[in-house]
Formats: sequence, C-alpha cells, structure tokens
Amino acid sequence: MTALIIGADHAGYPMKEAIKPILANLGYEVEDIGPYDENSVDYPDFGDRVARAVAGGAFSRGILICGTGIGMSMVANRHPEIRAALCNDLFSAIMSRRHNDANILVMGGRVIGTALAGEIVRAWTETPFEGGRHADRLEKFCHCR
Ligand code: RB5
Repeated sequence: MTALIIGADHAGYPMKEAIKPILANLGYEVEDIGPYDENSVDYPDFGDRVARAVAGGAFSRGILICGTGIGMSMVANRHPEIRAALCNDLFSAIMSRRHNDANILVMGGRVIGTALAGEIVRAWTETPFEGGRHADRLEKFCHCR
C-alpha cells in the first residue's frame, strides 16, 4: 500500500477530513499530521512538516490544504526538492502530474467544494509523469536560485 502524507490548517481542516476516505478508497495509507479540529493554527507549521517529509523521502507524495492554497504553496515550494502545485481545478491537477511531476498537491478549502476536491485528488494520484522533455525542464530547476 502506498503511503501519502496530508496536512492542513483550520481553514483546510474540513476538506482534509472529507478527502481522507477518498484516499483510503484509492488504496493509500494516509499519514495525517493535523490539525485535528478547526481551532486556529498557523499554516507554515503544517506546510513545512509535510514538505520536509516529502523532501526527505519519508513520503513520495503529499497533500496540503489551507483557505486559498496560496500560503501552503509558498511554504512548501521553499524546499528545493518540492514541486507543490496549487490546483483548484481538474485540468491543472492532471497537468501538474503529466508535465511538472508535482509531488505535493495543494488545494484551497475555501475556494472549491469537497466534491471537486475529491475528483482532483483522484486525478492527481492516478496521473503519471510523462518524462522526456518535461524531465529536462525539471532538471533546470536547480539553476533557479
Ligand atoms: C487562514 O485564515 C488563511 O490565511 C490560510 O488558510 C490561507 O488561506 C493562507 O494562505
């Protein structure tokens, strides 16, 4: 069973809870780092923990959810090994896998509904990276500092 790590903040908590059973149905073992209720927390604390776990290789993929998804994306992408994709639509989710080999999916819990989020998660987890010229482009990321 493939493991996946998930984290949120208070604004992303309801969506996190909604997509956990979907991930389980897709065959993923889910490591939920919290939060475990809707009390106010700081998104960098949770975003950094998920990003570190993926960057360090403990998990190959992660999911982060805050209100808009913007803050979590900013935090996660501070790690050079992370390719976090903010996807509040299905097309972006699919393309973030095919062309960008995104290793963290970010969504906005206050932007989209849980039904769409479930479809995004399904597409994102099932879509492979195309490699080829897209891999060459990812190689160039190491020059972007
Ligand atoms: C929390 O109020 C909100 O700022 C946070 O969830 C996120 O949207 C930040 O980018």
